[in-house]
Amino acid sequence: MPSDLTLTFIGHSAWRIVHGDHDILIDPFVTGNPSATIKAEDLHPTHIILTHGHGDHLGDAIDIAKRSGAEVISTFELANYLEEEGVEKSVGMGIGGAHEFAFGRLKFTIAHHSSSAPDGRYLGNPAGVILTIGGRNIYHAGDTALFLDMKLIGERTPLDLALLPIGDFFTMGIDDAVTAVEFLSPKVVIPMHYNTFPPIAVDPQEFRAKVEANGGTAMILEPGESYSLA
Ligand code: NI
Ligand code: MN
Repeated sequence: MPSDLTLTFIGHSAWRIVHGDHDILIDPFVTGNPSATIKAEDLHPTHIILTHGHGDHLGDAIDIAKRSGAEVISTFELANYLEEEGVEKSVGMGIGGAHEFAFGRLKFTIAHHSSSAPDGRYLGNPAGVILTIGGRNIYHAGDTALFLDMKLIGERTPLDLALLPIGDFFTMGIDDAVTAVEFLSPKVVIPMHYNTFPPIAVDPQEFRAKVEANGGTAMILEPGESYSLA
């Protein structure tokens, strides 16, 4: 039996995954995140995963990494930027590449979006990420438009959970995210990247209803709530 894996929705696209001794943050936008219910100083990760450099994803990553010594895993140009900013353990990977880390396997996928640092420096391509932790496959899409290759992700990797943006404006909106769920066929989908700011205000219940009308399972988490993959 796989051991418990707990995901906590920090808000926006920020997640904490705890499995055994591993404490992983994805896109830890906490300070200045109007939906966050915790403080950055309460986070003590072993690893931080970044999908791209935009401020609402990079968030507190540099400060948290410096304080905790966490290993930060991101794309090549973003990893170089983090090193220049003083992050000691910065790992830069390429899209399509995978690696076995202490917590499990991580593979970066494509994402149709952009990536730049808060100072405007361009940081190459953005990414999504597939994590295999304790036998469970989790896909965090990052910021992305709908893309047909999500079919390939779903065919190649049986997903226990997909975390998909639904807020429109910067990423997929509800209807495109519903199609993404068809392509990915995860056991469960949880929406993210909505209602944090006025341009991305949508009704997650509309997403849930449309996914379930298609035979899928969607769950909505409020910031601060957790989901356990038992
Ligand atoms: Ni972005
Ligand atoms: Mn974003």
